Amino acid sequence: MNTDFNHLNVTNRKLLAWVTEMATLCQPAQIYWCDGSDQEYDRLCTEMVKSGTLKRLNPAKRPNSFLALSDPSDVARVEDRTFICSVKKEDAGPTNNWMAPAEMKETLQPLFSGCMRGRTMYVVPFSMGPLGSPISHIGVELTDSPYVVANMKIMTRMGKGPLEVLGANGDFVKCLHSVGAPLAAGQADVKWPCNAEHKYIVHFPEERTIMSFGSGYGGNALLGKKCFALRIASEMGRREGWLAEHMLILGIENPKGQKVYVGAAFPSACGKTNLAMLIPPKAFSGWKITTVGDDIAWIKPGPDGYLRAINPESGYFGVAPGTSYKTNPNAMRSIEKNTIFTNVAETIDGDVWWEDLTETPPARLIDWQGKEWTPGCGRKAAHPNARFTAPASQCPSVDADWENAAGVPISAFIFGGRRADTIPLVYQAKDWESGVYLAATTGSETTAAATGQVGVVRRDPMAMLPFCGYNMGDYFAHWLKMRGTVTHPPLIFGVNWFRKKDGKFLWPGYGDNMRVLQWIFERVQGRGQSIETPLGHVPTFQDLDWSGLADMSDARFNEVMKIDAEVWAKEISSHNELLEKFGDRLPPALRAAQMRMLADFSTTPSANLNQRSLTGAGLA
Ligand code: OXD
Ligand code: MN
Repeated sequence: MNTDFNHLNVTNRKLLAWVTEMATLCQPAQIYWCDGSDQEYDRLCTEMVKSGTLKRLNPAKRPNSFLALSDPSDVARVEDRTFICSVKKEDAGPTNNWMAPAEMKETLQPLFSGCMRGRTMYVVPFSMGPLGSPISHIGVELTDSPYVVANMKIMTRMGKGPLEVLGANGDFVKCLHSVGAPLAAGQADVKWPCNAEHKYIVHFPEERTIMSFGSGYGGNALLGKKCFALRIASEMGRREGWLAEHMLILGIENPKGQKVYVGAAFPSACGKTNLAMLIPPKAFSGWKITTVGDDIAWIKPGPDGYLRAINPESGYFGVAPGTSYKTNPNAMRSIEKNTIFTNVAETIDGDVWWEDLTETPPARLIDWQGKEWTPGCGRKAAHPNARFTAPASQCPSVDADWENAAGVPISAFIFGGRRADTIPLVYQAKDWESGVYLAATTGSETTAAATGQVGVVRRDPMAMLPFCGYNMGDYFAHWLKMRGTVTHPPLIFGVNWFRKKDGKFLWPGYGDNMRVLQWIFERVQGRGQSIETPLGHVPTFQDLDWSGLADMSDARFNEVMKIDAEVWAKEISSHNELLEKFGDRLPPALRAAQMRMLADFSTTPSANLNQRSLTGAGLA
């Protein structure tokens, strides 16, 4: 067994002991310690091209880029196979799958035993966040998938640097991953090994350990992302007084060079990457949006009295279908080179394609399952969850401070979901407690792809439902407490880009979301005008900048902003279904916020609300 790591000067005894213990369990043919160099990345990719796991794309079209096609059974995160194995069941809470740690270990032991036979165990030290930042943390992933190693190289700071930060005595999150497909002597490998029968994505929060078995795809396998940076880190944050959130981070800069940063949480499939990389409409000359992160934020109270945030990742693992030069030019430029594509279609000249990339699809493609594809054949060319993995440094809108070890100061949090009705385009919560209440009860309509049912509202508190590593009742209490840790708490906003009338979207979205971001910017600066409603402060028609948008009338704006008191009374009552789940772990302050809001709505007739937003009367 090759266990050569002397060139990396590994002195951390805990790490050495754990690698030995896991190698004894998993029995790999060899162990390889990753140094994270470009040469190592190139070598691994070349080996994967030889083995068929990757295909090199046409270098004239997509330099240094690759295509991977997964097993059709291994295409997305598996939430029903994801477990939080805290010692006590109550600590995992009603929204997580739970099993007692000892029982789970007994279940996993036979699966991991010998699971890497015939394969290499890669040791992948990584830093979530800039190397050495006080907000960053170190993890080590042991994996038998070279595809995972290559993706980790893009998504994290990986190899020698994190090992040096770890030093002899540093602590790290243990991340064990296996595709669960050992090879017998002489057995030929497949292009995408995985285990169709057994999949387990398991977190032991007290031990800060992750064990993932059976899948090689995305969040199931790149353990720095959802498993560490959200599930384990959220629990670390609760203990240590910080937040790990499912948030993009962006900067808003006005023509005078004044700048504020906001964190924004949306459930999957609400256009987070598009918002993070927004290009303002032409009429907003001099305004800039800059990108710190597109998916996850680690947020700690800073010495300046602000919450300061970093993006713990160094790459984007974005959904490809729907991304185009029309919807997100910055994402498109980020993936022009040095990118790994997974489950997209391949063009006959060795480039990539997916649904909505171009208005007219190519006449012939090889689809994500490796089959011939023609327009109208009745199948999707790319899998709906097809992905690109691209370095953040390639994004034209990347913020100058995206790697600042001190993080960026957050002035506002934005929470959103996909709702065809009820929720106005934008509102600012009255105070921290009602903001936390509204964030905790945020909902998003299910899409047919996810559940088979369209238009059912799934409550997704802070967009963290699948990602909170502990009892969400305690998570709400932690959010309430965070207000007291800083002298400049962020303002809290809610948005809904997806309101409809007669089946049609009322709001253009994409670049025009800048109009809402501008109002938020002005509110943060203490300037933006608003009126007060029971939901909070809202802009009137004249409070937003409509330059360059011809077809937004006062009446149409009133539709997208409508706050109907009767509908809201029902909405607030419907939150009980979620809140009751938490029993005595629900902070009383959230119930109080609910009662206050209900009482406010009951004394404000709908007609009055509509009248106020139509006329703009009562400017605050
Ligand atoms: C993601 C998700 O992949 O939220 O980022 O599902
Ligand atoms: Mn996400």
